[in-house]
Amino acid sequence: DSITASSSGSRDVVQVLRENDKNYLVLFASQTGTAEDYAKKYAKELAAKFSLNVMCADIEQYDFDNLNELPENVFMTLFISTYGEGDFPDGAVQFEDFLSNASEGDLSSLKFGLFGLGNSTYEFYNGAAKKALDYLKNAGATLVGEFGQGDDGAGTTDEDYMTWKSNSFEVLKEKLNLDEHEQEFEASFVLEKLGTVDDTVSLGEPSLHYLPSGNLTYNSENLQVGPFDLSQPYLAPVVKSYELFKNTDRNCIHTEFDVSGSNIKYSTGDHLAVWPSNADEKVENFLKVFNLDPKMVFNLKPLDATIKIPFPTPTTVGAAVRHYLEICGPISRQVFGQLVQFAPNEEIKQKLSDLSSDRDQFAIEITAKYLDLADALLRLSDGKPWDSVPLEFLIETIPHLQPRYYSISSSSSYEKQTIHITSVVENFPNPSEDMQGNVVGVTTNLLRNIQLAQNNELDKASLPVHYDLNGPRNLFAGYKLPVHVRRSTFRLPSNPATPVIMFGPGTGVAPFRGFIRERVKFLETQENVKLGKHILFYGSRNTDDFLYQDEWPEYAKKLGEAFEMIVAHSRLPNSKKVYVQDKLLEREDDVFDLINNGAFIYVCGDAKGMAQGVHAALVDILTRKKSIKKEDASEIIKMLKTTGRYQEDVW
Ligand code: 2AM
Repeated sequence: DSITASSSGSRDVVQVLRENDKNYLVLFASQTGTAEDYAKKYAKELAAKFSLNVMCADIEQYDFDNLNELPENVFMTLFISTYGEGDFPDGAVQFEDFLSNASEGDLSSLKFGLFGLGNSTYEFYNGAAKKALDYLKNAGATLVGEFGQGDDGAGTTDEDYMTWKSNSFEVLKEKLNLDEHEQEFEASFVLEKLGTVDDTVSLGEPSLHYLPSGNLTYNSENLQVGPFDLSQPYLAPVVKSYELFKNTDRNCIHTEFDVSGSNIKYSTGDHLAVWPSNADEKVENFLKVFNLDPKMVFNLKPLDATIKIPFPTPTTVGAAVRHYLEICGPISRQVFGQLVQFAPNEEIKQKLSDLSSDRDQFAIEITAKYLDLADALLRLSDGKPWDSVPLEFLIETIPHLQPRYYSISSSSSYEKQTIHITSVVENFPNPSEDMQGNVVGVTTNLLRNIQLAQNNELDKASLPVHYDLNGPRNLFAGYKLPVHVRRSTFRLPSNPATPVIMFGPGTGVAPFRGFIRERVKFLETQENVKLGKHILFYGSRNTDDFLYQDEWPEYAKKLGEAFEMIVAHSRLPNSKKVYVQDKLLEREDDVFDLINNGAFIYVCGDAKGMAQGVHAALVDILTRKKSIKKEDASEIIKMLKTTGRYQEDVW
């Protein structure tokens, strides 16, 4: 029961701000939740430090036609993340429209701050935030403080944010004449305790119905009403799951979801979002450190109409920790600093305060050791529980679990009701010498757990285990996971005669398995058609991690000369390293001809090394074969990108 944006139901951001007596506006445009987290942190701190009434909202929720009418001393700060080729997040398309259509002077009264969230590995680093900055300036708005840019590529977003924030606060203090005081945590909602439930519901159900009778029921039926998207995933059964390879330090899992019970449609090349939950031992550890009762049922009531509660309630504490809080993610130094007020004693308080104010020490002691919040705090307190941290604080301060996106490896024309994904399980020894155990990815580990559980091999898992995955107490019984489909622009050319060149080493091969299955299906169902040449450059370390190696010969048989697979191995014993771009250079004559014949080029996989390596090799080939300057060759490639003939799905 979502709260409407205002009591009057208005989408006019200025009206809502006035109705709710707010005097500062923080807005976010988030794709995966990071911009949202930072915006909320910023808003919270601004409110606490300077006694401002801050309104913090998703850009998607409002219209901005009256933005220039904000009261004179009300400023706005934007958090904008960049997605794809310098694009705004999906929810900010209307906002971008509004900004780009604003004329000079339209926003002459507006004072704004801006922090972009981006990744310098990609070509259009902080592209969306930069565009917003230009539009706003062109419309006459005034930037207050510095333009901040967080760089996830360098892994410095948190530090970039903190540097930017201190500047921003200094400037605001002066411009708005603000008094600064010690910050104390105040929740944005009232947390009502509704008693406890027994064991039967404590494990799985994210959201409970609290009936007037005082009884609780599951609302699993409600969960299964579509349409299914980012705001509501579909609980899809895993119908097949197997190990593609396993060697000493890595496994790769193939997972198939049945979406026939939903109206979910996908296209070959789309992404599947998988909503993770935390493993039992992680949940238990967290509950123990903060002395929380997993069976307690609570409700969240927002303090005013501008506040959205972060997840559906009533729910149990156990379910909130398991399904909604990112308890295993990296810790931000900022959150550490805020916890100082709740330290169990003076000595620990001092230690925490020292560590949170020392950037380098924090990086060594916490970040490099891959500690999660519960473990980090336990180490600091020598095992003492942190039982005075309010649950409200944890709910508001810890980032919320976000879906993880996987390139779909099936074809929607081959298998309409089933979606396949291909994932390498993240699992590596903790690089810090004084740490034991492995660092494990939340979602890929869950997928691996399901694969093991379905084969009755869960006891083989040395990773954090999700026990009782199929037990009667688990909503997700039947090995179900919440999923939704995200559209992508990664699409085969509509004319099957167009040649296709694909680069997909490692799990980057996923969408190309889908592409090839699509072409196989096409040939099976059409008569007298001719396919263009389809070349797939694939790379793996060795022969044992060669993904889907038993399937490719089948496809080749069906597609005949139209399909060719070229394989590079980088770690064959007694051989030198060979990458897909090396193979590309060996085949430059053929590739050059195909490009001249209108080939579409696709790259999927590692953004940093591989995608750039392939790009460089292609520029190189064009430079030599056309006898042109390197810059001109780069221009040609750029044109291919803008016209959709060179598509990337990289991470
Ligand atoms: P590696 O042995 O050096 O890790 C799938 O992960 C394959 O991609 C592996 O063979 C891996 O090689 C390779 N790879 C790693 N970095 C690459 C790069 N910069 N360009 C192309 N392939 C790369």
